[in-house]
Amino acid sequence: MNRRYRKTIIAGNWKMNKTASETKQFAEELKVILPKAKWCDILVCVPAVNIPAAIRAFKEMRVTVGAENLFYEKSGAYTGEVSAEMLKDLGVKYVIVGHSERRQLFGETDITVNKKVHAALNAGLHPIICVGESLEQRELGVTMDLISLQVKSALAGVAPDKLRKCVIAYEPVWAIGTGRTATPEQAGEVCTFIRATIRHLYGARIARSVTIQYGGSMNPGNAAELLAQPDIDGGLIGGAALKPDQFVEIINAANQE
Ligand code: 13P
Repeated sequence: MNRRYRKTIIAGNWKMNKTASETKQFAEELKVILPKAKWCDILVCVPAVNIPAAIRAFKEMRVTVGAENLFYEKSGAYTGEVSAEMLKDLGVKYVIVGHSERRQLFGETDITVNKKVHAALNAGLHPIICVGESLEQRELGVTMDLISLQVKSALAGVAPDKLRKCVIAYEPVWAIGTGRTATPEQAGEVCTFIRATIRHLYGARIARSVTIQYGGSMNPGNAAELLAQPDIDGGLIGGAALKPDQFVEIINAANQE
């Protein structure tokens, strides 16, 4: 973390979990144990149908609500899809783009990720752009090439002033939902590389202002050492963000003075 130049953001990605009623229950439980998080922003990205319930439930708390996906067209015949404008109108601030589950299961590509990044930014949303290599790619030694391609493709055509609104999440596919976390050194190395990639594209001042999160089996036991890496500015948390007590422990790890 480096709070002098950029925000630390602890974000939950609920994926396809919790109903609207369970969302309310989570918020009530969280409210009791949530510390005053002076040093980090707290975000919960929820399934699209739960957004109104989440906005209501988290209203009195310093917890921002985000979405997990969007479609890049403004409106039209796209059955089942949700536009950036629709999310914005509900009061959403952040939207996850290009999560590896969407890349693997729903045909998301670097091209669609780029279109979604533009759609989010044009609507005034903050995209959280997910990048990350598979185990096979890591073993082949092409991690940095792949990350560079994913970052450059996602940001193609994004103006410098808009880049400040983007968050990048490094999520190695092999660490997601597996309990197998990247070591702080492995995660830190890639996050530093992501910042260097942005520096080449946009210059040092902008690069140092971008929040770069780590995601992949982050939990109360490993959060502090991951966040101690200079270029890891928060977490995108799946499983552990579904339990208020675990989520709070991770927030506490980021909220150290
Ligand atoms: P887990 O924390 O469950 O590994 O999920 C990480 C993730 O995919 C967050 O987007």
